[in-house]
This record gives sequence, structure tokens and C-alpha cells, in this order.
Amino acid sequence: MNIAENVYFVGVVDKELKLFENQYPLRDGATFNSYVITDDKIAVLDTVEAQFGDEWLNNVNAVLKGRTPDYLIISHMEPDHSANIKRFKDAYPDVKLVGNAKTFPILKQFFNCDFADTVTVKEGDEINLGSHTLKFFMAPMVHWPEVMVTYETSEKILFSADAFGKFGSSLTCEDWTDEARRYYINIVGKFGMQASALLKKAATLDIKTIAPLHGPVLTGDLSLCLDKYTKWSGYIPEEKGTLIAYASIYGNTEKAAYALKDMLEERGEKTEIYSLATSDISEVVAKAFKYDKLVCASVSYDAGIFPAMSFFLMRLKSKNFQGRKVGLIENTSFAPSALRVMKPEFEAMKNITIVEPSVSVKSAPDEASYNALKELAENLLK
Ligand code: FEO
Repeated sequence: MNIAENVYFVGVVDKELKLFENQYPLRDGATFNSYVITDDKIAVLDTVEAQFGDEWLNNVNAVLKGRTPDYLIISHMEPDHSANIKRFKDAYPDVKLVGNAKTFPILKQFFNCDFADTVTVKEGDEINLGSHTLKFFMAPMVHWPEVMVTYETSEKILFSADAFGKFGSSLTCEDWTDEARRYYINIVGKFGMQASALLKKAATLDIKTIAPLHGPVLTGDLSLCLDKYTKWSGYIPEEKGTLIAYASIYGNTEKAAYALKDMLEERGEKTEIYSLATSDISEVVAKAFKYDKLVCASVSYDAGIFPAMSFFLMRLKSKNFQGRKVGLIENTSFAPSALRVMKPEFEAMKNITIVEPSVSVKSAPDEASYNALKELAENLLK
């Protein structure tokens, strides 16, 4: 697939993959992207997952048409992109491996051998291929420390590594936002400061196309993607609204959560609600970042909170959730513990405002519960 003159997509599509990083559920697989630029010299950008080595090499060779590649650019050493480096070097022994000072120690760790012909680049270095020039920018911790992005100056393409990636096997840009958000928040979300730093560098470049390591190549009007990335990396809500995440056993905590949803919607608030017991937690976490308010409702369980809520809070914390209003609801029949556990978790996060009252339901919502929920709804909207 041609993405610009003499610039080719040679990645692979994995429709069968069920878990990304062996933990994030996929509804429609994923892509592992790789690119080739043919010029006086030829550069290949990144490899793909180990199991797709044959397919990828066939794709690369179809573009090379018997020529020999000069450079393999290593944007990122995570194995979904680096697994075929040794195989490629064995196939093309004269190819130069291009990385930065942090790339090559990790390369050695993965393959347990030294590689010849390495080229160490630093911020702003360039490699000229003929009419195409590659310029390198470091992007540490977006998502590993050795990550770097490559700007091709003639076609104005930013090869953006994990940034601007998306889950899913589609290579078209339709419906980009939801799965790109879920990808960003869960894979890179912890490193917002570093992603913001990369965006600042990108803002100095005239970018026509963004070519990430997962998902579609982005081209045309890039303003939506750039706006979303500015918000996601800055932990800024995309819109006003409330995400309600609940953990219920027999349906009474759920009843309280839905009562609050109705009260918020009656007051004009956009809301989404998820049962943590049955939902993909990575999706609920991503949606929590979308809105400016979050409400957690959990049954008290084992002197703490329901396990699914515990996992949700752990994930929020690890993705640096911050800067939101939070409402809390617990349910208990004999020993209240959910508020006692949830509150400090949120108090330890940055710029979280806990909106009162925290609501304590006794077994099933009663008039006092509904009054407290109404007050919580009103205060959330103040
Ligand atoms: Fe798709 Fe961080 O690698």
C-alpha cells in the first residue's frame, strides 16, 4: 500500500488477536505497522510481531523488487515492533540499524547478541536517502524510554511510533476516536507529560500524514486527532458528562447507580454507565478520561470493595487519572467499607474533587438514599 510517493505500508493485520499486550481485550484485532521508503537509498521503518515474520518479509520484498535495503529504523524496541530485527539483519547483513543511545542496549537484551552496523542518532539528526530525508526526534516514555519518531521532510510524514495508534484491524480512519482513546489511555496514558512534550515537537513540524505503529495512517485534516491527543496527554476532559462505574452483586447497588443516572439526565447531563463486573475495564477507564465527572458505586465486600472496583481503581491510578470531579456510592448490609476504601484512593490522585455527599446505601436504596443521591446529582452539576 502506497501512502505517499515511494513510501509504502508493509505492515500486517492480525484479525485474530484477542488481547493486546496480553491484557487489553480486542474486538477486532490489531495491526502492526511497518513502512518502506525507496529512494537512492532504502529505509525500512520497524518490523512486526514475531509470528508475522514471513508475511512481513514478503511485503517488504515485494516493495524492494530485488534491491537491498540500506537502513532499518528502530522506533521502538517493544517486541510487537522489534521481534524480526535479527531475522531482517540475517537476510540483509549489510543493512544499518538506526536507533538512539537507549535503543541498542535493549536490542542486545532481547536478542542476546551484538549487532554490527549500528547507527546511533540523537535529537534532530538526519539521514538523507536521496529526495527523502529522515529527521529523528526522541520521544522517551511514549511508551518506552528508547522511543523515537521520524519525520520525513519531503512528504511531510511523521512516523509517530506508538503515538496516534489505535486498536483494531481497520486501516481506514473512520471511527478513529473511541478505539484510539482506549489505546492511548491504556497504553500510553501514564506518560501524559512525555506525550505532551512530543506534541510540542510535532507542532514545530509541517505534518501532512501521521504514520503510527498501530492502526490507520492518518492524513488530510489532522485537527481532530491532534486535538484529542492534546486533551488526552494533558488529562483534560473531552467533554462535560458523567461516567458512572458500578460494582453490584444482587442489583441493589446497580439500582442506586441507575437512579443517579436518571437524576443527572433529568438535569440535562450526558451520562454513560458501566457494570464493572461485566465490562471491559480498559473501556471504562478510557471513558472515565473522556468526561469531567466520574461516579463510582461499589458494594462493600470482604471488608473492602468488590474486586472489579478494586481493579478499576488500580487501573485509574496507574494511568494517572486526575483533574476530575468524583462522586462515591457504597452499599452495605452490615459492615460499610467501600467508601472507606474508595475515598483515600481518589484523595491520593492529583486534582480530584470529591463531591459530597458520599452516599451510603443500606442493603437497598430507600427514601434517605434517594434524597442523598439527588443531593449528589445537584452538587456534581454545580
Ligand atoms: Fe506497539 Fe509500545 O508498542
